[in-house]
Amino acid sequence: MIEMKDVYKQYANGVVAANGLNVKIEKGEFVYVVGPSGAGKSTFIKMMYREEKPTSGDILINDTSLPKLKNREVPLLRRQIGVVFQDFKLLPKLTVYENVAFALEVIEEPVDNIRPRVTEVLDLVGLKQKARMLPTELSGGEQQRVSIARSIVNRPKVVIADEPTGNLDPETSWGIMNVFEEINQRGTTIVMATHNKDIVNRSRHRVIAIEGGLIVRDEQGGGYGYEI
Ligand SMILES: Nc1ncnc2c1ncn2[C@@H]1O[C@H](COP(=O)(O)OP(=O)(O)OP(=O)(O)O)[C@@H](O)[C@H]1O
Ligand SMILES: [Mg+2]
Repeated sequence: MIEMKDVYKQYANGVVAANGLNVKIEKGEFVYVVGPSGAGKSTFIKMMYREEKPTSGDILINDTSLPKLKNREVPLLRRQIGVVFQDFKLLPKLTVYENVAFALEVIEEPVDNIRPRVTEVLDLVGLKQKARMLPTELSGGEQQRVSIARSIVNRPKVVIADEPTGNLDPETSWGIMNVFEEINQRGTTIVMATHNKDIVNRSRHRVIAIEGGLIVRDEQGGGYGYEI
């Protein structure tokens, strides 16, 4: 359902962050993207939701070619993809409930659907009791769970996460991983860039290792493979 064909990306400053990526990710897979800092993991991820365009090559999501999409078609693509960031990106003046509901309001979901859908995902991430709180009143792990709830509330087929546990302690990170595992078990494809060696080694899934803009390893059930 996600396919990259000979993807090459050179940034304006001349840095080549993707140097011929070829990969296929099927529906329902759980994929870790690992590799040293500067390897091109975030670039790989950003090209999947059209935050960045490749310089050449093609990226298909369910047969839609992302480089060929017109800018006005990008919001439609984003409805099919949930994105989770390291730094949560919550709206500070909105409550937990409102942060999640907002994702449905912007896509003009019928009002009657909003409350049940938001309640359902807050329950899934274990935050139903904190729906009225503000992000600043939550721990880092709780804030990340809100951002995951927001990313899945419109039921995307794919959730893409760039170091979602990067700012969290090990125990909190495991709580976040349980949420991703649960979402994956419900059939959602997960693509996650991570430096978290323990998670990759203990919760085994396909591992794609990127170095210097190239896929150097692609292994089902592989381990982290780096000592740092
Ligand atoms: N917007 C940009 N403009 C120019 N160069 C960039 C840009 N974004 C990333 N790069 C460069 O592209 C290369 C890959 O960066 P990328 O962010 O994809 O790495 P990464 O694997 O995610 O690293 P990290 O583990 O530190 O997050 C780096 O050399 C980086 O400096
Ligand atoms: Mg990165």
